[in-house]
Amino acid sequence: MNTLSLFLLVATVFCVKCSKILGVFPSPGYSQFILAEKLMTELARRGHEVTVISPYKPKENIKNYRSILVDGLIAATAGDLFEQDQENIFKQIIFLDGFRKVVSEQILADENVQRLIHSNETFDLVIVEQFVNEAHMGFAPHFNAPLISFVSFGISEWSSHFVGNVRLPSVNPLSFAPYTDRMTFFQRLHNAFLNWFEVIFRELVCYPGQQELLNKYFPKQMRLQDIMYNTSIMLLNSHASTTYPATLTTSVIEIGGFHVSQPKTLPSDIKKYLDEASEGAIFFSMGSNLKSADLPKEKLDGILRAFSKLKQKVLWKFEDSDIPNKPNNLFISKWMPQSDILAHPNVIAFITHGGLLSTTEAIHHGVPMIGVPVFGDQKMNVALSVKKGVAVHLPLMQLSEDSLYAALTEIINNSEYSKNAKKFSTILKDQPVKPLDLAIFWIEYVIRHGGAPHLRNAAVDLYWFQLYLLDVILFVVFCLAVFYYSVKLLVRRIFSNVVNSTRKGSKQKMN
Ligand SMILES: *[C@@H]1O[C@H](CO)[C@@H](O)[C@H](O)[C@H]1NC(C)=O
Ligand SMILES: *[C@@H]1O[C@H](CO)[C@@H](O)[C@H](O)[C@H]1NC(C)=O
Ligand SMILES: *[C@@H]1O[C@H](CO)[C@@H](O)[C@H](O)[C@H]1NC(C)=O
Repeated sequence: MNTLSLFLLVATVFCVKCSKILGVFPSPGYSQFILAEKLMTELARRGHEVTVISPYKPKENIKNYRSILVDGLIAATAGDLFEQDQENIFKQIIFLDGFRKVVSEQILADENVQRLIHSNETFDLVIVEQFVNEAHMGFAPHFNAPLISFVSFGISEWSSHFVGNVRLPSVNPLSFAPYTDRMTFFQRLHNAFLNWFEVIFRELVCYPGQQELLNKYFPKQMRLQDIMYNTSIMLLNSHASTTYPATLTTSVIEIGGFHVSQPKTLPSDIKKYLDEASEGAIFFSMGSNLKSADLPKEKLDGILRAFSKLKQKVLWKFEDSDIPNKPNNLFISKWMPQSDILAHPNVIAFITHGGLLSTTEAIHHGVPMIGVPVFGDQKMNVALSVKKGVAVHLPLMQLSEDSLYAALTEIINNSEYSKNAKKFSTILKDQPVKPLDLAIFWIEYVIRHGGAPHLRNAAVDLYWFQLYLLDVILFVVFCLAVFYYSVKLLVRRIFSNVVNSTRKGSKQKMN
């Protein structure tokens, strides 16, 4: 008996240890892959056999980690992102569907991916990065495995409904909007229209397109609606300290901050430069998708002049090897270990595009920001950081020598920003379990239970008009109307009877 239980124990442990996990991380942006790599290598490190479909792969070979590299996706989706700054939000929603089609189809049509689909391989779990690539959820039912959605931002219009999150436009800004969770009347009005437009456009245009891809690239006939709403767990890269406190269903797990590692030793030139920054240093990076070198020349010149007026040293992730008129207090490099630089005690401010990864790293290390948001969720992230008192917003349109210098003096001289950043840093780190361990726990939990149907929120099984009680409201209005007209009819009848009988009465009297 004892031997048997020991055997069962070993078998269970062994079985969980050797799970085969398929990860589908199609985002062409490198920063999203940083998240994917962190999560999937950790699973591999813990003994799982992972296979990752992505346009990127880890720099070194990792044990238990197999890469299915999809070429061409990065080139197919490239464009001048700085131009996106001025786009109308309705247009951005429509534009995103073009991106959705390209990303979804390029992955599915890839030769190696098709070979995997038509192989006899099996998986115990499928993790899909969820951002306008709904057809990729088809990998889960194709391999008869439970589905986990991984989302590189917070709760959003693109994925909250898969797990039955009721995402009210009154408190949830559309990711493209420059709003926070606290909106004025007119902001709520605008946000409501944006959200309604997004839902209608998605249901009528985007999802039928994704259904076609499912039909075309998977051998088995599958309905997109059945697959999407069968998400076991959704992992969100958010936390109240980096995004905002949101209403979340039981199957949503927030793991914001999981990708930030213990600081590593800096390259010697950067370390020396920062160690010697007795007045402090400013770090400037527009992330991995936006290239500072692509900024218009007059903006570049203004930035350089603003920097030259500072006592502080400046580090700039700049994609050209040289920059004309470089001031003495400026260090440029094509590649910078962002999180490790932010961890250096002499770094006092961070000029950023406000991507969620950068925001999370800045908050983690308690560094205040100057946000220059350009596209996607960056405007919302910066608005949220401004609301928390950890950032100054500097619109790209207004970026000039004077506005940048003013923002820099505000961040440097007003100690409130730094104080708030340190406060939110302690809040982000004050958690019962490290976010990466939490993520692994829930992933293994889904494997252990073969899915998580017991966490499925009833909202996913209702029609939208049932969910928002429109059928009930309609019914109540109907009942009230019936009641009103019945009473009206009754009163009229009684009244006319009374009138008739009094008339009769008076007639009789007269007679
Ligand atoms: C899967 O197919 C390969 C050949 O393509 C074969 O060697 C292997 O035994 C098969 N595995 C299973 C479990 O059928
Ligand atoms: C910021 O502080 C420095 C000295 O620390 C001072 O020279 C400068 O004038 C201040 N700027 C503003 C805008 O207050
Ligand atoms: C939903 O997922 C579970 C596993 O999590 C699976 O057993 C079930 O067949 C799936 N249902 C559909 C309709 O795909």
